[in-house]
Amino acid sequence: MNIPQYVPYIGDEEKEALCRCIDDQWITSGKRVAEFEHRIAKLCDVKHAVTVSNGTVAIYAMLKACGVNPGDHVIVPDFTFIATASMVVMARAKPIFADIDPISLCITPESIDKVMDDKVTAVMPVGMYGQCSRWDEIREYCYAKNILMVEDSAQDIGVFYKKKAVGTYGIAGTFSMYGDKCISCGEGGMVVTDSTEIYHKVLRQKFHGNTSMGKYIHDQAGWNFRMSDLNAAVGLAQLNKLDFIIKKKKENEAKFKALLKGVSQVRFMDIDMMCENVPFRNVIFVPEAKPLIEYLVSKGVMARPLFYPMHRQPPFQTYVDMPVTDKVNKEGLSLPSSVALTDKEIEYVCSTTKDFYHNSH
Ligand SMILES: Cc1ncc(COP(=O)(O)O)c(C=O)c1O
Repeated sequence: MNIPQYVPYIGDEEKEALCRCIDDQWITSGKRVAEFEHRIAKLCDVKHAVTVSNGTVAIYAMLKACGVNPGDHVIVPDFTFIATASMVVMARAKPIFADIDPISLCITPESIDKVMDDKVTAVMPVGMYGQCSRWDEIREYCYAKNILMVEDSAQDIGVFYKKKAVGTYGIAGTFSMYGDKCISCGEGGMVVTDSTEIYHKVLRQKFHGNTSMGKYIHDQAGWNFRMSDLNAAVGLAQLNKLDFIIKKKKENEAKFKALLKGVSQVRFMDIDMMCENVPFRNVIFVPEAKPLIEYLVSKGVMARPLFYPMHRQPPFQTYVDMPVTDKVNKEGLSLPSSVALTDKEIEYVCSTTKDFYHNSH
């Protein structure tokens, strides 16, 4: 058997949506982008949603629009995908790493406070693997310190904390629609905000510094971060399936849990009761992830390590102590997580995991 880490859940609906774009002869940014933005804003119950080319530039555009300036410090999790920290650098600010909570894998008011300094102007928490914890407390903390909360919620479309969409706790938030995300456009990103000022600032950056296209006169220098209608058409077709995708991901996760229940070395993530999560990945923790990953891969199961700590990344290396991130990186792995996993595939992944421990590793 060969079981990939993740295959996007795409099919006839996406194909038909793409064909309709081509039949209309409209493949650049147009009515489908506008509809996609409208639908995401509605899902998140937020005033504005702006599509951009991917989740990475969404973070950059958000930081700039929120007024993060060169020389500012921005607190980010030590445990995240590198885009969170590298976009702070691209905005010519400095990422300050905070350790995570071992259960939620997210930063907390306490871990933020530990690394707080007087140059910090923003905190960017990241919902991890489709869940988060204490987002309201982080918001209160930022409010009390008079700094911004901005969210990298790349993995969190459809995730709610205390009935409020993740991505909407801060002054702005971002999503990714990369191929492995819950809904995918291939490549795609979104900035969401209730602030009309931030919305216009993101639009300006996205359209060469000018929101009124076609006149070749630009208010300021800017980028081209546009999304095409081709991407948005796929995103809309995916959005129609979101409820099903979430249901199926939860069912798959329950099957993994049931089949690996008796394996004392395996632990699953615990979800904060206030969080309506979406299992972005089937994450497990074991005493030592690396040998299990190697064994699974040798048997055709494309397991994957979790994120590598930011403080150990070549561009950011700093001699700080981040014990939880290091432990999570050592012990965590992601089992195959495709929506369309069959029962046979899930059984194979679990029996191969059991074999590894039964063969006394
Ligand atoms: C936490 C996090 N931030 C940012 C990104 C970047 O998103 P994209 O790949 O769409 O640029 C990702 C996605 O992979 C992510 O997981």
